[in-house]
Amino acid sequence: MALLTILEYPDARLKRIAAPVTEFTPAIKKLVDDMAHTMYEAPGIGLAATQVDVHKRVIVIDTSEAKNDLKVFINPEIIVADGEIVGEEGCLSVPEYYESVRRAAHVVVRAHDVTGKSFELEATELLAVCIQHEMDHLKGIVFVEHLSQLKQIRIKNKMKKRHREAERV
Ligand code: NI
Repeated sequence: MALLTILEYPDARLKRIAAPVTEFTPAIKKLVDDMAHTMYEAPGIGLAATQVDVHKRVIVIDTSEAKNDLKVFINPEIIVADGEIVGEEGCLSVPEYYESVRRAAHVVVRAHDVTGKSFELEATELLAVCIQHEMDHLKGIVFVEHLSQLKQIRIKNKMKKRHREAERV
């Protein structure tokens, strides 16, 4: 398994729209394995293919405490969304930054697994939030883009400073 490089906001590649997966090939299986490995190593609870510069509709999530409940969503679609929840979110593409975002509290998502089999999953709380956050990535949206313009400018500046400092090392 390979460790993939995670793009950091405001990298323009995070704005690309992911294309549906049409063939469930060994390459897709490898992508999923590498994404899961990268997410666990980070460590994070979710990762979208967009974040590793692969513009396909693939998401991996594991919100379990024991990190033993990997969920893979390929071509995910939200078919039910209701209620409201405001929770603090973070993102592997925006390290060390956390902010509250409003999301649907309950979702039903329909997706394919890595073999191409279709399934539906009902989610609430953290898992529901995580699914919506990762699906945003596939649309080219980073969670900070749900915040005020002022906060977005602030975080952009903070990230630019972080990237300048990283270059200096
Ligand atoms: Ni994210």
